[in-house]
Amino acid sequence: MKLMKPFDPLYCICESNFSLKTSKHYEGVFTQGSGYLHIRGSFEEGLEGANQNEEYMRLPANVTIEKPRHPISKWGTYVPGITGIHPLLKEEIVNLPYVLFFKLFANGNPLDMSSSRISNYQRMLDMRDGLLYREFDWEVDDNTTVKCEFTRFVSLARKNLVVQMMNFKVLKGKCELNLISGIDEKVKTNGYNHFASVAKKLTDRDCNVELVTDNNDIVLMASRTFSDTVEFKDNGSNDQVASVVLNENESISVNKLSAVMTSKDETGRLSKDTSLNPLNENTCLNFDILRQQLDDAEKKFEQLYSEHELCWNARWERSGVEIEGDDRAQLAVNFSIYHMLRAANPDNSKVAVCAKGFAGEAYFGHFFWDTEIYLMPFFIYTNPDTAKALAEFRINTLDGAKRNAEKYGYNGAKYPWESSVTGDEQCPNWQYADHEVHINADVVFGLWHYYSATEEEDFLVKAAPVFVETARYWISRVEFRSDGSINLNGVMGPDEYTCFSNNNAYTNMMVSWALKKTVEVVKHIKETNENAYSLLKITDEEIQLFNEVAQKLPVLTLDNKVILQCEGFDRFEELDFEKVWTDRKRPLGQFVSQEKCYRSKALKQADVLMLPFLFPNYLNQEELAANYDYYFKYTTHDSSLSSIVHSILCCRMGRIQDAYDLFVKSLDIDLSEDKAGAAEGIHIANCGGIWQAIVFGFAGMLPCYESGQVSFNPRLPESWKSLKFNIVYRGENYRVHVLPGKSTVERRS
Ligand code: BGC
Repeated sequence: MKLMKPFDPLYCICESNFSLKTSKHYEGVFTQGSGYLHIRGSFEEGLEGANQNEEYMRLPANVTIEKPRHPISKWGTYVPGITGIHPLLKEEIVNLPYVLFFKLFANGNPLDMSSSRISNYQRMLDMRDGLLYREFDWEVDDNTTVKCEFTRFVSLARKNLVVQMMNFKVLKGKCELNLISGIDEKVKTNGYNHFASVAKKLTDRDCNVELVTDNNDIVLMASRTFSDTVEFKDNGSNDQVASVVLNENESISVNKLSAVMTSKDETGRLSKDTSLNPLNENTCLNFDILRQQLDDAEKKFEQLYSEHELCWNARWERSGVEIEGDDRAQLAVNFSIYHMLRAANPDNSKVAVCAKGFAGEAYFGHFFWDTEIYLMPFFIYTNPDTAKALAEFRINTLDGAKRNAEKYGYNGAKYPWESSVTGDEQCPNWQYADHEVHINADVVFGLWHYYSATEEEDFLVKAAPVFVETARYWISRVEFRSDGSINLNGVMGPDEYTCFSNNNAYTNMMVSWALKKTVEVVKHIKETNENAYSLLKITDEEIQLFNEVAQKLPVLTLDNKVILQCEGFDRFEELDFEKVWTDRKRPLGQFVSQEKCYRSKALKQADVLMLPFLFPNYLNQEELAANYDYYFKYTTHDSSLSSIVHSILCCRMGRIQDAYDLFVKSLDIDLSEDKAGAAEGIHIANCGGIWQAIVFGFAGMLPCYESGQVSFNPRLPESWKSLKFNIVYRGENYRVHVLPGKSTVERRS
């Protein structure tokens, strides 16, 4: 089977030559998923020399200076929410057994993309339906050539199901093919073994694996391989094998189905006790469920694709962006939308989207402010159900946030800088865990953004305790001085190259905003829902304090024009960037010691400039230009969250060429083969940023939380002839059509 849809260069990412240098990058780029299950784009047969069972100790490190191991291939099979406990890195997402596993031998030779003689190679990901297709001719020996085709998808209709289709045709000579299929359970996560127990068994036609993680999550996996022409049998080592001899021009097709279920699923929850006894009677019951799912899928094999395609069509219909006149931007925004749609799960509010979009383990599967600030806007205005699940994730993890506050000796709730499933802090580095507290206001910002775009009263009632508890945290965290002033000291703003600062402008402004919103929310609930109001147990004194702190937290300025990132920023050391930063392909953080970065005017990413980005009316044009020009020269964009913010601000200042150049820079982050940026996963916040640059930047949409309505003021790049996209706002669907200098907004049914 080839791609199901006619090839479209704007929706297909192609790899036309295999290279060991970029193999890990393409594994990230080609990640497939359903929200429930994600699998990196690794080869079914693996790669020689890339042992996935290697053990080593990954140490906590600052992400810009960490030098992680670079194996040539890293498998990744993730179910968000299934985690393990690492002795140094805390809770991390677990890399699960490899259900794609399929080995091929021709005349006794193993297929290996790095050493076999391969020609006519190509691999394509069709982002319209998430199908990954690989084809090539394998010159097995001088007399034998086999054409191999592999197609696969993770079903969006049956989210725990993986479908693989393989086809092998002898182009020259006669060939004996030996096939081995099953599940490879010998895998590690970042070199660490998170399986407290793992057992594999072949039952009848299925390969079954049951494992328990060291965080007590239970995972069952079953796979079945079948073909009309060859029979797969037990080889005594719990894999399925088949052999066939093919003459010239003969071919065989092989299909494989795999299904996964876990103790975190809403249905089929296993009791904890069974965890001690893998593959016992109780759990067989659950393998029965998987077996039934595989039976049903096998019977309806022909329908599996069409039902999956329908789901993808519906998502693209809501979320697609059409740019006329810029194919590069079109491909990149499609890529961003594909990964966002794949990574998030509207049916699960027990997890968010991790910083690498479940396409790699660089941030251990943790959830950051990336969710609220970079991803949620896309979902709020295109897929509000998904936005709601992300917002509810924070409501569901309020208890963890309360535990964090308590551990630090504060009241209320402190959301973790890095979250996993419970809301307890999972960041292994003290700098961020202790000081990057702005997350607590960012969470409130995300909740309010969702509410203001939907006006769902039930949601606000559920979210209200988050407003109140985070506000209580701020009251105990700020310093009240005897002169009546109030300060928020010892914080790290978004710029992670300033580790510890006083009165960071972004943090103070966000905290003030969150406190004011809290007062507003409490008042609204008091007026509309007596019962919910009484549950908040809030006193008038508290409300008074929220107001007082909101008013008094200072935002400092230099000459009344430039907002100071933090106290004393103007006296930080000036770095001679030209001299010290000799290779701009690598982060500045690799050329200057952490200690020096922390006391220099060197920004990892937008900090003060996050304010006019989030609040377009915060600065007038003159102030915006002054702040932009002051900070731009110090900003390294060593974080992928940075360029896109600057692009949007340039749009607002009418600096369209600069806006476009910064936008293009962001498009390359995961897509450039040279940079190979997707090796450890997708920069998913940047994906959300790219959508925002188009919608909030070039189309000039003002989000609703400021003015209670959305509006457009477009400034298209020169080459763009038109721009079209859909948005949902307060339950109504709209089609936005932007032409140079004007826009139309039409209601859709
Ligand atoms: C950035 C953070 C971001 C994190 C995860 C870091 O490098 O500095 O702002 O939240 O990556 O994407």
